[in-house]
Amino acid sequence: MKLLQSKKAVRQQVLKWRKASETIGLVPTMGYFHQGHLSLMDECRRHAHRVMVSIFVNPTQFSPNEDLESYPRDIERDLELAREHGVDAVFLPDDNEMYDPDHCTWVIVDNLTKGLCGRSRPGHFRGVATVVAKLFNLIQPDAAVFGQKDFQQLQVIRRMVADLDFAVKIIGCPIVREADGLAMSSRNAYLSKEERRSAVCLFQALCLASRLVKEDGATSCAQVKAALKERIESFPFTRIDYIFTGDPENLMPLEEVKRPLLVALAVFVGSTRLIDNIII
Ligand code: PAJ
Repeated sequence: MKLLQSKKAVRQQVLKWRKASETIGLVPTMGYFHQGHLSLMDECRRHAHRVMVSIFVNPTQFSPNEDLESYPRDIERDLELAREHGVDAVFLPDDNEMYDPDHCTWVIVDNLTKGLCGRSRPGHFRGVATVVAKLFNLIQPDAAVFGQKDFQQLQVIRRMVADLDFAVKIIGCPIVREADGLAMSSRNAYLSKEERRSAVCLFQALCLASRLVKEDGATSCAQVKAALKERIESFPFTRIDYIFTGDPENLMPLEEVKRPLLVALAVFVGSTRLIDNIII
């Protein structure tokens, strides 16, 4: 497995693969790998001859009050896991390699970023879209793999690729969960033992939403949301950021239940902000 730390090294590697007529798949990450990340690497392998994983805690997608400094990192372990999963190359740039000090060009995906996490994290998707566009330009992958865990992010990337004519196939992968249903996330590492017990509230609320729609024939999104709110708030340490019910394609909120229905949640458990979603 190659470890590439400069854009120049990436370009050289990509050129070598291209000359051998090999296709390239990319898995963009911020590292601190769990099974969710590893499932993307395995899926990527099915779509390309070569798999490149980027590990970069992208400062431009964090607001000043967020967890950029404390974001969990373990590069040695990540490299070992990537190697075990047959990754061909890891791109590990530092901030200065990735961003010129005078950087001032941004990719803004409108509409889709107005609600959900875009509302609570202003500027977040501008940072995500910009860094992913940079990776796409640099690596020019044939395919790139993203998790449905960050459903809005996946839709934003799909929109950006369509709107800016990137020649990359975007592949979405299912959410990988812990045994009790908690969606795997690097940020789960922040949770205390007590908070970890409450963190299952997101998955339980999503299961409740699914039952209300599928079995009880719920028709009002407001009613579904009220039931989810009550369920989540019955767990200690929780504070709801948002409960969203809407169209999974355009991310517009719905008042009447219509299927497919996206139910997406962001909940603070202690000071850790967790997200999860389901498509019913
Ligand atoms: P990160 O949070 O490291 O996630 C990298 C990829 O792993 C994303 O596509 C995310 O959706 C996926 N992922 C995370 N948890 C998952 C789970 N439990 N099951 C399945 N997939 C999961 O998302 C980012 O990094 C960044 O925003 C990035 C796209 C790299 C841009 O900086």
